[in-house]
Amino acid sequence: MSEHPHQIPAEAKGSDQTGAGSSPGRDLPGDDRPQDGAKVSGTSRDRVVTSHPVIEAVLARYAEVIGADLGAYRNHVYRGLTYQQRLLGRDEVTNDLALAWAVHDLGIWTAGTFDYIAPSADLARKHAAEAGVENLPLVIEMVELHHKIRSVENPLVETFRRADRTDAFRGNLRGRLSRADVAEVTEVLPYRGFHRFLFRQTARNFVRHPLRPLPMFHW
Ligand SMILES: [Fe+2]
Repeated sequence: MSEHPHQIPAEAKGSDQTGAGSSPGRDLPGDDRPQDGAKVSGTSRDRVVTSHPVIEAVLARYAEVIGADLGAYRNHVYRGLTYQQRLLGRDEVTNDLALAWAVHDLGIWTAGTFDYIAPSADLARKHAAEAGVENLPLVIEMVELHHKIRSVENPLVETFRRADRTDAFRGNLRGRLSRADVAEVTEVLPYRGFHRFLFRQTARNFVRHPLRPLPMFHW
């Protein structure tokens, strides 16, 4: 991304300021530097993350290739991140989580495939240094396992998986998230055709690969 005007801004890198706090997620594995450049509305568990320098830089970098789907993907990224933050009981958004959410489905557009997990993980590797990522293996794991059907042990990876699933199912299968969580988040960050987009992609992929219509899911 360094050759591109939409670089990840310096303030997204190496921010060691902490919001401290005693939220239950603070001692989770991979709980790296907090990122206080995120914009949120509300306080504590009511927060909705609507902007983060790492996410904004990645989306700006790939805006052209994402095209008309940008608004739908952008809101999906922030809804997923917000759901995960609420599951973790956290306020601060780390650069690691921000990059993982920014790239997690991006391979759909950059690699032009519905088998997009590997290309999305490659984007995490590509942009990790400039995003100020601390634990790249963890970021990769979040991206690679976010469509795993069975649960995973690492709480960061598992909450990522559950948050993405909650949004993909429009707030159904929401686990520990409440109906009110989903209502608050989707009011600030509406779906903007995200599920129509998913349906179109699934239908198109089914025609092309009838024996493997959902290649991104695995056990
Ligand atoms: Fe997703």
